[in-house]
Amino acid sequence: PATSLQDIVGHAKEYGFVFPSSEIYDGLQAVYDYGQNGVELKNNLKAAWWKAMTQLHDNIVGIDAAIFMHPLTWKASGHVDGFNDPMIDNKDSKKRYRADQLLEGKAEQYEAEGQAEKGKALLTEMGRLLSAEDLAGVRELIIAENIKCPVSGTANWTEVRQFNLMFSTQVGSVAEESNLIYLRPETAQGIFVNFLNVQKSGRMKIPFGIAQIGKAFRNEIVARQFTFRMREFEQMEMQFFIRPGTEMAWYESWKEARMKFHKAIGLPAEKLKFHDHDKLAHYANAAVDIEYQFPFGFREMEGIHSRTDFDLRNHQELSKKKQQYFDSDLDENGKPYGNYIPYVVETSVGADRLFLATFCNAYTVETVGEGDNVKERTYLKLHPALAPFKVAVLPLVKKDGLAEKAQAIANSLKSSFRTTYDDGAAIGKRYTRQDLIGTPFCIAVDYQTMEDDTVTIRHRDTMEQERVAISDLKEKIGYQVAI
Ligand code: GAP
Repeated sequence: PATSLQDIVGHAKEYGFVFPSSEIYDGLQAVYDYGQNGVELKNNLKAAWWKAMTQLHDNIVGIDAAIFMHPLTWKASGHVDGFNDPMIDNKDSKKRYRADQLLEGKAEQYEAEGQAEKGKALLTEMGRLLSAEDLAGVRELIIAENIKCPVSGTANWTEVRQFNLMFSTQVGSVAEESNLIYLRPETAQGIFVNFLNVQKSGRMKIPFGIAQIGKAFRNEIVARQFTFRMREFEQMEMQFFIRPGTEMAWYESWKEARMKFHKAIGLPAEKLKFHDHDKLAHYANAAVDIEYQFPFGFREMEGIHSRTDFDLRNHQELSKKKQQYFDSDLDENGKPYGNYIPYVVETSVGADRLFLATFCNAYTVETVGEGDNVKERTYLKLHPALAPFKVAVLPLVKKDGLAEKAQAIANSLKSSFRTTYDDGAAIGKRYTRQDLIGTPFCIAVDYQTMEDDTVTIRHRDTMEQERVAISDLKEKIGYQVAI
């Protein structure tokens, strides 16, 4: 049977991956907490990204900028004026919706009914109205399409209004206008404002990149689909600073590199695709999404954007500080390229969306056994490098020194791999527990171990077992848990 989002949400909660935030108070919409296994999986994903972006490139370094930034940052970046979603309220249900998402839903419905052309035309018209900021036109379109409120079933809509997605708060104790600051809606700006700090202190030469992982906040109007759209989330972004005119070549090369990464961590090619943007964000001259096929359809997981010099130029204008780089390389006439504001190609992936994609892809339900013994087996088919635990050490029984032997093996492995020890139930049940959280290797200690210092390794995906000398364990497991 196809996996539903409910299966995923249920499994994530039951096995300590993701909990609703403040659940004892009935939760907080679009905010989630990662549990004891979830934090390990997420950390492993972040580490894989960090390694791919910084360690494997000589010319990319990382930073960790603050969440709070000078308020002018968001004026320069265009977020104060342009980071809006068109929203509409239903007068009967008092529920709020994103106007563009209502229309997209209708277009999807047309497509499902075999009227793809009609759906496409609707999206084109919506795109035209939104870029012309014709909000009355958007409302007319919603009414003309007879779109009903999913809750009340009525079409009694208010006007469409622009709603800024940034959260604001006050710094200091005096509630003055000048003390208003925002929680960053993207981590990228922390990189832009530090561009020269890093370039000078690191003697970086263009082309070079700056990478960062950190929290971002957006007051999403419609928050749904679990951790897909959250109000507090984490981004992994990299800005690549380049010479103007070279942006399309870098854009293409980052597109390929990022797709390769997703495949390397175990996401299958058939569940990944590029989706070119028809509607560009306020800062981009080319943009593409890498989409993953979630249980609710293909959706954006990562964005790759050619941002030109939009951000640095605006920061230069508002801060009155030059944001230039001196390029001593020679052009085709033998002259140095000289001073310019670099162009930027950015890669931006949500850690939570990558987590959700990885989790959905790993969640596997299989029928095993024959005849009267047919059973369903559920396990997480995670890349071993991503699994919360790499190894579980399980004594067949607790007596006759087997428990002590198993504990000694677990202790000898835990500085190399995250290892767990379990002697709590029948061995079959303990294998199942490890399957459910995705542990790739279970080591069983039995009576033969006491005689010849060998153990069995049971492989999660095939359930096959092999006999291995204890002294070979580290090497045997080690090469399988790297990406
Ligand atoms: N700096 C560019 C930027 O922020 P974006 O397309 O708005 O671009 C990039 O966001 C990525 O951040 C998305 O592809 C997605 O993975 C993640 N993201 C954005 N909004 C999110 C939300 N509300 N919840 C979870 N992840 C989100």
